[in-house]
Amino acid sequence: MKPVSASAPGKVILFGEHAVVHGQPAVAVPLNAVQVTVRAVPGRPGSGVIIKAPDAHCTLHLTSLDQPPDTHSLENALVYPVWLALDALKTPLPDLTLTIHSTIPVASGLGSGAALAAALIRAVVGALDHPLSKEALNALVFEVEKRHHGTPSGIDNTVIVYEQPVYFVRDNPIETFSIARPFTLLVANSGKNSPTRIPVGEVRQLYESDPELYGQIFACIGDIVRRARTAIEHGDIESLGPLMNENHSLLRELTVSSDELDRLCDAARQAGAGGAKLSGAGRGGNIIAITRPDQAAVITEALRQAGAVSVIETAVG
Ligand code: PMV
Repeated sequence: MKPVSASAPGKVILFGEHAVVHGQPAVAVPLNAVQVTVRAVPGRPGSGVIIKAPDAHCTLHLTSLDQPPDTHSLENALVYPVWLALDALKTPLPDLTLTIHSTIPVASGLGSGAALAAALIRAVVGALDHPLSKEALNALVFEVEKRHHGTPSGIDNTVIVYEQPVYFVRDNPIETFSIARPFTLLVANSGKNSPTRIPVGEVRQLYESDPELYGQIFACIGDIVRRARTAIEHGDIESLGPLMNENHSLLRELTVSSDELDRLCDAARQAGAGGAKLSGAGRGGNIIAITRPDQAAVITEALRQAGAVSVIETAVG
């Protein structure tokens, strides 16, 4: 066994959240400005696996591989990925200490759970010198996501494991695509946590209450996603802002926006952003706004004035 470090980035969904759960496409990109890193070092003989998250003041132990750990949320996030990796490798319990550091805000739509799982599994298989294909890693991280989120589409694990822009359609082969001209995004955090499972379940209930109406909304979102992909591939960045605004309006119809998210989007637009929308499951979490680089500082200040607790500026592409 050897000491290794592994990492995984965050992600932002540019277009298509929620509709993607119901078969429409979505576009997401890695967010390299935030990362989970895991350092794996050999442990004392007989220690089993010790998982430390000093930033969360938390230490957990995995002492048996007989059955998966229970679904308590912290165990699920920290221990279950490790258990899954060891189970997949069919290896006896190693003596290993894993130390986690993360700069990805938790439960805010930036993929913290999937990134944590991906970095933990990469660290375990790296320490045991047992390489795993991206496809196999993606399948394991998806297992963690399912345990945590109920019926996830799989977009988070896919973009985080492949670390490339992804055009994602549930149950279809993974399509990565290229960005013809880089663009600047601001990712503004409302400060309100947003557990994915609840809004996803409520959107499903809405759909079941009126499949025709909500099916049409999903289809309109799918259409926006296709137009956005074409624009990104052709370097037509000017089209993206209006498409973001349209997508946000449809997400409001799905009831997944909130006063805070609407206020942040309005503030960004009024300060000169090309467009803005919520990103991820909604109700809380983050919004994204597209901007010219020279306007980023002014829009960042406007977002802070409107209540954003943090704003990340990132170049996409
Ligand atoms: O985990 P979040 O907050 O980024 O939301 C994921 C996006 C949804 O489309 C709402 C759910 C899913 O599984 O795709």
